[in-house]
Amino acid sequence: MIIVIDGPAGSGKSSTARAVANRLSIEYLDSGALYRAVTLVYLEAGCEEEKFFSLLQKKDISFYYRDQLFHIAIDGSSVTDDIRTAAVAENVSEVAAMPDVRAFVNDLMRDVVKEGIYIAEGRDLGTAVFPDAELKFYMWADLDERAQRRFDERKDKNPDLTFEQVKESIAQRDQKDASREADPLKKADDAIEIDTTAMTFEQQVDEICWKVKQRI
Ligand code: C5P
Repeated sequence: MIIVIDGPAGSGKSSTARAVANRLSIEYLDSGALYRAVTLVYLEAGCEEEKFFSLLQKKDISFYYRDQLFHIAIDGSSVTDDIRTAAVAENVSEVAAMPDVRAFVNDLMRDVVKEGIYIAEGRDLGTAVFPDAELKFYMWADLDERAQRRFDERKDKNPDLTFEQVKESIAQRDQKDASREADPLKKADDAIEIDTTAMTFEQQVDEICWKVKQRI
């Protein structure tokens, strides 16, 4: 069984999906983390496409959710922290726009959800990866609100960061994700839309849990 949440960066889908997974004791799948791990391989290949694809075929990407964290490893070495660097954020949308990369990541995801109950989050899960998902949500919020959330999350670790930088980076990523040809960010026709601009985190979690509980 699969429940999906799609939406733009900073809409609250990751933290909400994790909280729902914890509260209902179900599995959590972070598709963005998989694209970020593949982007590390792209950077390792010096951003050369041919070298990248031949390197990617040799890599073993493994992942699991435990203790509030989506753990991810390449060839047995954890990259859970490495996938959150600025270099990855700057390149991930370009890498994720490559159809062969999408096919690679989609295979990883479809394979893992064969057993168990999953809540997965991303950009195209309800439209392209799991069109038959039992329940689909599309979460979004105003750009300023999303940028503020990301800024609040990151400012302690990075004191030089400004709100404007975060807003610009999110706006650019949204634009690339929504305008690409291969499976762009898009609300599925049958997805439940949740505007989180004025919602508290608890409200978001309660609303999704309530709807999920009616299905499981
Ligand atoms: O969710 P997160 O911000 O970590 O995702 C990183 C990037 O991965 C997105 O900006 C997007 O380019 C890509 N992505 C995607 N399709 C998904 C999930 C993420 O293209 N289902």
